[in-house]
Amino acid sequence: MFTKEETEAVYKAIYSRRDIRSFLPSPVPMKVIHKILDAAHHAPSVGFMQPWNFIVISSQEVKERLAWAADKERRALAIHYEGEKENKFLSLKVEGLKEAPLTICVTCDPTRGGSHVLGRNSIPETDILSTACAIQNMWLAACSEGLAMGWVSFYKKNDIRDILDIPPHIDPIALMSIGYTDQYPEKPLLELANWEKRRSLNDLIFQNKWESQ
Ligand SMILES: Cc1cc2nc3c(=O)[nH]c(=O)nc-3n(C[C@H](O)[C@H](O)[C@H](O)COP(=O)(O)O)c2cc1C
Repeated sequence: MFTKEETEAVYKAIYSRRDIRSFLPSPVPMKVIHKILDAAHHAPSVGFMQPWNFIVISSQEVKERLAWAADKERRALAIHYEGEKENKFLSLKVEGLKEAPLTICVTCDPTRGGSHVLGRNSIPETDILSTACAIQNMWLAACSEGLAMGWVSFYKKNDIRDILDIPPHIDPIALMSIGYTDQYPEKPLLELANWEKRRSLNDLIFQNKWESQ
């Protein structure tokens, strides 16, 4: 059973967690990194397959190569927007890979547990979904430790495999930048930039069947 304070602490982490792209150079103690990785490792996973690995990157040279891959992809993605929206997209800061003292590449091994992982036989993407649960655990734990984290997904997977020596069958799911920050907003950065706003929860809840809007 959770005490009232413990329950409130869980909701506090959920509501205050933010995606952060600006970091201070202060180092993050490895003890804390180990704690947040242990939180990740206690996530649910399909058939308990635990498909994740965590590549902890502190080398500035490697971080700069990752930043290069992300920036190349960011510029390529601008093709999806035109005019004012393109300028706005290009003005968004979508990663802080070079600034953050650490980046953790979270990977998913679809072969872990053999070819018939319980539950994954029906929906193959459940291995990726399990990895996403690990990332969310890590994010909430980091938030409760006063750390900032940013999810970077702007990249071609093969660029990341090349840079980090990841075998071809392993999926680099996320680059998570981690560090301390003095810019921790209350609202999502994309909301503050007027890019997107939180939808009304009531519009997303249906009763008994799918409801057309
Ligand atoms: C799967 C996934 C991929 C994301 N990729 C990026 C990214 O490449 N760059 C970025 O700036 N934010 C990225 N984000 C963060 C989202 O933009 C952010 O979660 C969203 O705007 C809501 O803000 P909040 O996390 O602060 O609540 C990603 C988030 C998720 C869940």
